[in-house]
Amino acid sequence: MTTSRTARILIADDQADVLEALRLLLKGQGYLTESATSPEGIVSALKSKDFDLVLMDLNYSRDTTSGQEGLDVLTILQAMDSALPVVVMTAWGSVNVAVEAMRRGARDFIEKPWENARLIAILRTQIELSRALREGQRLEAENRLLRAEGRPVMIAESPAMQPVLDLIARVGPSDANVLISGEHGTGKEVVARSLHAISERASRPMVTVNAGGLSEGVFESELFGHVKGAFTDARTDRVGRFELADGGTLFLDEIANVSLNLQSKLLRVLESGELERVGSSKTRRVDVRILSATNADLAQEVAAGRFREDLLFRLNTIEIHLPSLRERREDLPLLANYFLRQFSQRYRKHLTGFESGAMQALRDFAWPGNVRELEHAVERAVLMAQCELVRPSDLGLRIGREGAGRIDELSLEDVESLLIKKALARYEGNVSAAADALGLSRSALYRRLRKYGL
Ligand SMILES: Nc1ncnc2c1ncn2[C@@H]1O[C@H](COP(=O)(O)OP(=O)(O)OP(=O)(O)O)[C@@H](O)[C@H]1O
Ligand SMILES: [Mg+2]
Repeated sequence: MTTSRTARILIADDQADVLEALRLLLKGQGYLTESATSPEGIVSALKSKDFDLVLMDLNYSRDTTSGQEGLDVLTILQAMDSALPVVVMTAWGSVNVAVEAMRRGARDFIEKPWENARLIAILRTQIELSRALREGQRLEAENRLLRAEGRPVMIAESPAMQPVLDLIARVGPSDANVLISGEHGTGKEVVARSLHAISERASRPMVTVNAGGLSEGVFESELFGHVKGAFTDARTDRVGRFELADGGTLFLDEIANVSLNLQSKLLRVLESGELERVGSSKTRRVDVRILSATNADLAQEVAAGRFREDLLFRLNTIEIHLPSLRERREDLPLLANYFLRQFSQRYRKHLTGFESGAMQALRDFAWPGNVRELEHAVERAVLMAQCELVRPSDLGLRIGREGAGRIDELSLEDVESLLIKKALARYEGNVSAAADALGLSRSALYRRLRKYGL
């Protein structure tokens, strides 16, 4: 739904033929232009609209060549918006005026009569530079926002989560549609809320609609609304989620479950921003940013003919893939302690942490249900715990799970450290015996014990 905005240039000169020539030249380059014929005109144009650049002559009263009028305007423009690039046009040979203009904040100058190619190159460069500059300011604002409140808590310090954080920071503030993929419980909704919270739509609602579990008809009127009498149960008009999300964000959860028929209706809204409530022919316009989530492989769904490729392209302008908890084990203790604090508070228990065995059990578990499963396990442990520290038995994790079924998800190092732990346990901490059993020298085993912090 978004395109990079066409740049708008304000051109200012007191000669109509100059303005006309510039207008045609810039239009041919795909720019939007507006013109002003006096210093006052420049200022009032800038007050009423946003421009990407001002291209202005320095002389406005007949017969003046001092450039003073233009220089005075420059000072005013600088005070109004110092990030707005201004390029000045000067008469041949008036280098001093050009230098003074640059001193007052003009970004570049061109002598009249200008050479088209050179003028275009200057304008393009200045527009790009100022966009980069504004982008930098935006990123800074985002960083502030990322630290601000109102966003969901998102614990993510592992290397595997770094690309996720980068993407959130970069695309969050934009209007780009984002597809969030990942296994169950990996935090897809947390990401959606974070994206919305740092967007310009943050003060408007984020409306969620879950495509799983609803029949096609019900889901359609959920999305688009219906009018009274549209079907038997439609006793009143109903506003759909798209309209509720107008100006804000619509979060389409479990998008892979949308039927092909509804996929085409969805596609139309995404392409045109237009929809009709079920049973009505009146077309309504909505302005909605779409975030969607799935734990399915949509490319595979497309290949199997179950998901429209054109819809996928509309949804996944940007894709954020969440790693499973197994791929981000560094976050596990942080998450576990965070949940422990949360639930201790909620249930008014005085818990300060995990016994080391309990933390080890958490680390060893495969977490097929990812962060949500961990959250539930910690909640249960908080309820069960009798003393200040959570004990392994409070967690209620099925033991023996770590061996079979999990090994293929482990890295070589994980497997090594697991085997070493098992050997040590079997020989009750006797390093020589464990080293023998593992086929290692004692010193090789000691090196590994240090490496894995055992
Ligand atoms: N990085 C994180 N930091 C803190 N809490 C998290 C994090 N990721 C997930 N959670 C918590 O874990 C639970 C599950 O997260 P969420 O609902 O976002 O997952 P999901 O991917 O949408 O799951 P599903 O596919 O089952 O819908 C939530 O309670 C959420 O607050
Ligand atoms: Mg979810």
